[in-house]
Amino acid sequence: MELPYSEPYKIKMVEPIYPSTREERVKWITAAKFNLFNLKSNQVLIDLLTDSGTGAMSDRQWAAIMMGDESYAGASSYYNLKEAIKNIIGFDYFLPTHQGRAAENVLFSAMVKEGQVVPGNSHFDTTKGHIEFRKAHAIDCTIDEAFNTTLEHPFKGNVDLNKLEKVYKEYPKEKIPFVIITITCNSSGGQPVSIENMKAVSELSKKYGIKVIYDSARFAENAYFIKLREKGYENKTIKEIVKEMFSYADAMTMSSKKDGIVNIGGFIGMRDEELFKQASFYNIIFEGYITYGGMAGRDMNALAVGLDEATEFVYLQSRIEQIAYLGKKLKDAGVPLQQPFGGHAIFVDAKRFLPNLPKEHFLAQTLAVELYIEAGVRGVEIGAILADRDPDTRENRFPDLELLRLAIPRRVYTYKHMDVVAQGLINVFERRNEILSGYRIVKEAPLMRHFTVELEKI
Ligand code: F0G
Repeated sequence: MELPYSEPYKIKMVEPIYPSTREERVKWITAAKFNLFNLKSNQVLIDLLTDSGTGAMSDRQWAAIMMGDESYAGASSYYNLKEAIKNIIGFDYFLPTHQGRAAENVLFSAMVKEGQVVPGNSHFDTTKGHIEFRKAHAIDCTIDEAFNTTLEHPFKGNVDLNKLEKVYKEYPKEKIPFVIITITCNSSGGQPVSIENMKAVSELSKKYGIKVIYDSARFAENAYFIKLREKGYENKTIKEIVKEMFSYADAMTMSSKKDGIVNIGGFIGMRDEELFKQASFYNIIFEGYITYGGMAGRDMNALAVGLDEATEFVYLQSRIEQIAYLGKKLKDAGVPLQQPFGGHAIFVDAKRFLPNLPKEHFLAQTLAVELYIEAGVRGVEIGAILADRDPDTRENRFPDLELLRLAIPRRVYTYKHMDVVAQGLINVFERRNEILSGYRIVKEAPLMRHFTVELEKI
């Protein structure tokens, strides 16, 4: 008989997690105003709130931490990271930042002006937040297939070139600072973008004189899907694919908390010295001097190693296959999911899960609360609460996709944990007809309300 698959690592350090009773969880989530961000981590058994900054570092990364150089200027850790970015991604210029949204803040300060438009593929919420904060607009040009969760399509993160060209024709060049492609596309379900699409966006944008920027948080997972699904890339290494992907971009923002496999950090990568100089000004006022930009030297060292490990096939295989294992269990039980399964998470289609509830009841949030009460598993709403209000009309925005995201931290949980998550959600699915109402908002912030929103049961 063929031997079963096992993780390509063993565990050297463990951290206890605490079981709780259903009664305790009801009490805690009520006190948290039905917002899972308000829970204490020890009130959670399996934490799938995010895969951001929640990964486990390797022994090589911890060794690099000990070698961190904390010099204010010109630290060796900065040069280690610069070399890793040059070798793995290919950009000559980079600026460290404390996390991904800080990279957006710095780069967009240099590039985005009031009244401009920024097309892209389902911009992530902080990206959209930083665009709208500057009184500019994000225009979604994702392919329509991405919004049909039952449809199998290998690259649901792709940009629709017709939609993009329409934007390029409608607005003068001066109104479009860049197009931003998110790889993988978090908001459409951790879905990848093909090399073919990246290349086509690059060619079209060149024709109109528009810069191409990648929001690169999960770039390595994107490369893994290209290797598996795109013709001509089967025999290329992940590192070769990554290099080609970035060859079609002018610059990138990075949240290193994802495919950098570190707990905090980010950076901006750039091809052009002029842009680097402009962005450096904002890096210094917002983040820190250009050779540390909000990161400790030790963390830059760990990131340099993390980028190397994240672009190794065996690591990506263990990560993405674990997510597919969870996805398959849920799918076999009939739970409606975004398909194909995403690179960092399983996305549950709350509209199909709770078809009888009106959208004003915040379906994905309702599901997130139910799963927490059922099994102590914390997921996150990627739906109408996250979508915020329209900046002009102040009406609630109800996106096409209303998803409960179960994001899997890197190298943290085992297959047994996935079994618990799956059974918890299947139990909720089996009693879905007993869920007769959702939640209404009682308090919210003007922007990025999901972090602090307070809800009550309808
Ligand atoms: N871009 C994407 C695609 C992201 O998923 C995130 C963060 C960011 C940018 C911002 O990076 O958190 O380091 O400031 N996503 C996290 C998540 C928060 O849970 O998906 P950050």
